Amino acid sequence: MGKVLITGGAGFIGVNLAAKLLDRGSSVIVLDNLSREGSRVNLGWLLKHKNSKKLKIMRGDIRNQAHVKQAVPGCEIVFHLAAQVAVTTSVTNPKEDFEINALGTFNVLEEVHKSSKRPIFIYSSTNKVYGEMTDIGTREGKTRYMIPKMPFGVNERNPLDFHSPYGCSKGAADQYVHDYFRIYNLPTVVFRQSCIYGPRQMGVEDQGWVAYFAICNILGKPITLYGDGKQVRDVLYVDDLIDAYFLAVKNIKKCAGRVYNIGGGVKNAVSLLEYIELLEKIVGRNLKIHRGNWRPGDQKVYISDIRLLEKEIGWKPKVNLESGVEKLVTWIQENRKIFD
Ligand SMILES: NC(=O)c1ccc[n+]([C@@H]2O[C@H](COP(=O)([O-])OP(=O)(O)OC[C@H]3O[C@@H](n4cnc5c(N)ncnc54)[C@H](O)[C@@H]3O)[C@@H](O)[C@H]2O)c1
Repeated sequence: MGKVLITGGAGFIGVNLAAKLLDRGSSVIVLDNLSREGSRVNLGWLLKHKNSKKLKIMRGDIRNQAHVKQAVPGCEIVFHLAAQVAVTTSVTNPKEDFEINALGTFNVLEEVHKSSKRPIFIYSSTNKVYGEMTDIGTREGKTRYMIPKMPFGVNERNPLDFHSPYGCSKGAADQYVHDYFRIYNLPTVVFRQSCIYGPRQMGVEDQGWVAYFAICNILGKPITLYGDGKQVRDVLYVDDLIDAYFLAVKNIKKCAGRVYNIGGGVKNAVSLLEYIELLEKIVGRNLKIHRGNWRPGDQKVYISDIRLLEKEIGWKPKVNLESGVEKLVTWIQENRKIFD
């Protein structure tokens, strides 16, 4: 891959992606405003990469068109990951959420559209574009909710139903990215991501629950469990997500203009209660738990139907839940000082 721009490249997914691109010898530009706590720590780690000479860090904001304009020229691929990432924050500050996620994405798209290189544009959307999905016939089991009518999970034909300001701003961006393929023939690909987890995820209560629960367990801090804990998500190890991004780039003729649901799928679906049990087994200590009310827009169960990705580009997750969580736990234990 030639010159690559990663917006939000100092974040969890961005920094893992940047490291893999540097491994392959690509030139990487990271555009990030470093607003996420932990992004400086992530950049410090990235700068130790053996190919860091090929890395350029631009501290800038996607809300500012001039910053984006400096970053895009000459790039052949743009991974657009920068975002306001928490539903909770979007509820308390919807304007900022809109400006970063909707307008910020529009700014990046416009610069890509103007570029003579016609870069490939990969967008990290979210399963939240499908809303709460209250009418899918959820059943309650002993430790988890289930959707018997959808044995393979939610596919890309499910109706869109933006819920929460975050759902709306990411959903608007998702539709713009898709439409820039239709209207301007830009080679864009939308990934509607479920929960991604792995090393370098600075999980906090508001976002990144897989890492957050693990960090709390290791540090002996309590978590608040909102709702009954039977909520189900399909979780995906970050390396598998990046494999899908790379496959989409490699197969861009087929993937341009496509929208894919991506997560761990049925095999890597887990409820919060089940995840806590697994975590306690791996870490070897119990997690302290307080109880809280359901949070707005919290889907009872969301599992991605990942068959389209498998059918079209042969992608499927390689890292199973247990080994992925073991890797995450090991990373937190080895980097405990970041979280103390
Ligand atoms: N992690 C997940 O489970 C998940 C799930 C679905 C979708 N996503 C999407 O994937 C993308 C990456 O998520 P992540 O988990 O790596 O989050 P992250 O918070 O770790 O990374 C986002 C990065 O964007 C930067 N940023 C925020 N606002 C910015 C702005 N205005 N200008 C420039 N940079 C800005 C932050 O400093 C941070 O480094 C996001 O778009 C997110 O919505 C993530």
